[in-house]
Amino acid sequence: MPAVVLVGAQWGDEGKGKATDTLGSRVDYVVKFNGGNNAGHTVVIGAEKYALHLLPSGILTEGVIPVIGNGVVIDLGVLFIEIDALESRGVDTSRLLISSNAHIIAPYNRTIDKVTERFLGKRQIGTTGRGIGPTYSDKMNRVGLRVQDLFDPHILAQKVEGALDQKNHLLVKVYNRRAITVEETVEGLLTYAERIRPMVVDCSLVLNQALDHGKTVLFEGGQATMLDVDHGTYPFVTSSNATAGGACTGSGVGPTRIDRVIGVAKAYATRVGEGPFPTELNDEMGDRLRKVGGEYGTTTGRPRRCGWYDTVVARYATRVNGLTDVVLTKLDVLTGLERIPVCVAYQVGDIRFAEMPVDQTDFHHAMPVYEYLDGWTEDLSGCRVFDDLPATAQAYVLALEQLSGTRISAIGVGPERDDVIVRHDLLG
Ligand code: GDP
Ligand code: IMO
Ligand code: MG
Repeated sequence: MPAVVLVGAQWGDEGKGKATDTLGSRVDYVVKFNGGNNAGHTVVIGAEKYALHLLPSGILTEGVIPVIGNGVVIDLGVLFIEIDALESRGVDTSRLLISSNAHIIAPYNRTIDKVTERFLGKRQIGTTGRGIGPTYSDKMNRVGLRVQDLFDPHILAQKVEGALDQKNHLLVKVYNRRAITVEETVEGLLTYAERIRPMVVDCSLVLNQALDHGKTVLFEGGQATMLDVDHGTYPFVTSSNATAGGACTGSGVGPTRIDRVIGVAKAYATRVGEGPFPTELNDEMGDRLRKVGGEYGTTTGRPRRCGWYDTVVARYATRVNGLTDVVLTKLDVLTGLERIPVCVAYQVGDIRFAEMPVDQTDFHHAMPVYEYLDGWTEDLSGCRVFDDLPATAQAYVLALEQLSGTRISAIGVGPERDDVIVRHDLLG
């Protein structure tokens, strides 16, 4: 099974990092294809806990080649802080490859991200403040900086000058900030050039050749389906394609080469930042899920909004990603609930929506229609095969599978590497 895409099926933080890590050394390459250090993927290996932002989770597995694709936006300072932090903990990062076409998050874009949010006031997105949106805007606007520009200081200075021509007007006249000089920006960026040079490759060529040689390549998505700039709850989204198609555009591997698409979904739902969330619980039950599930952002530490599993979202994720498998995570967090509501449709006024409403206004006003499933009290953390699960937990999983339209191939029962039940081999 050579090319496998793994994406978030909800609003992020589904446990993609752990899912990637669980596949371990059966994978030869792990490719990050979208987003940047807005992501936060937690991997727990024994007593060690790692929070990865920019680096693909495969970096923690010996022998795996981690790749940062062209669809990623890179904060160079963060990249090397993350590399150094892993090295100091004994993780070998020397295999890391980076696409020469990946874009760079310039310091002025971090500033613009933060001031834009402040100016949006009530309409703010709740971004991570890492400069993600402004950097993708520059890319689309054709005034972005790419990794390869670091190796031609003259071109780099020209591009920075072109970008700052516009941005200094915005910063000074609209946002009342100081102007940024071309020299300080270029000088800062060039300090990373020699260190990054040996890692820079033609990502498309490397990955296509790997696939030609029968290697297994895992494309690991950042963010998630409902945060995708095209298919998510726009404008409350990130600025990249976090859905499966992004794996192709963000790496230079064609869609005909993709064999499988795995969606990662929590057994309930969470969201960080602003935007609609039909099954959100603003009550003690929401607090309980947050507490038991440890639902605090890996990147910003913000408390995550919590709610029930939403099968309308799940069916939508199945459709827009062409999911072949689901990894259902955090089933253990639901232990101890008498009954568990599962959203099967939305009610908006007199209209019932079985599928995602076309109009965002309907989604913003969607009231969840619930079916109630029986809970369980047993600790699930020791379960390793499906039959180890209590009967009601099995029924819960099978109901989600039936309602979501994709087979549930693995089930997470705890944060550690081995806390997983595999029903169908994800790479077989
Ligand atoms: P990602 O961004 O999709 O990689 O997810 P995050 O790492 O941001 O958030 C998922 C959190 O859930 C992390 O703290 C994981 O260690 C944890 N986690 C993942 N799978 C499971 C699971 O099956 N059970 C429990 N209890 N925790 C899990
Ligand atoms: P992982 O990969 C959850 C959210 C932010 C905000 C919106 C836009 O860990 O699942 P941005 O800084 O990207 O412009 O913010 O997207 N967001 C995430 N939420 N998990 C993530 O990544 C996220 N990355 C961005 O909270 O609402
Ligand atoms: Mg996360």
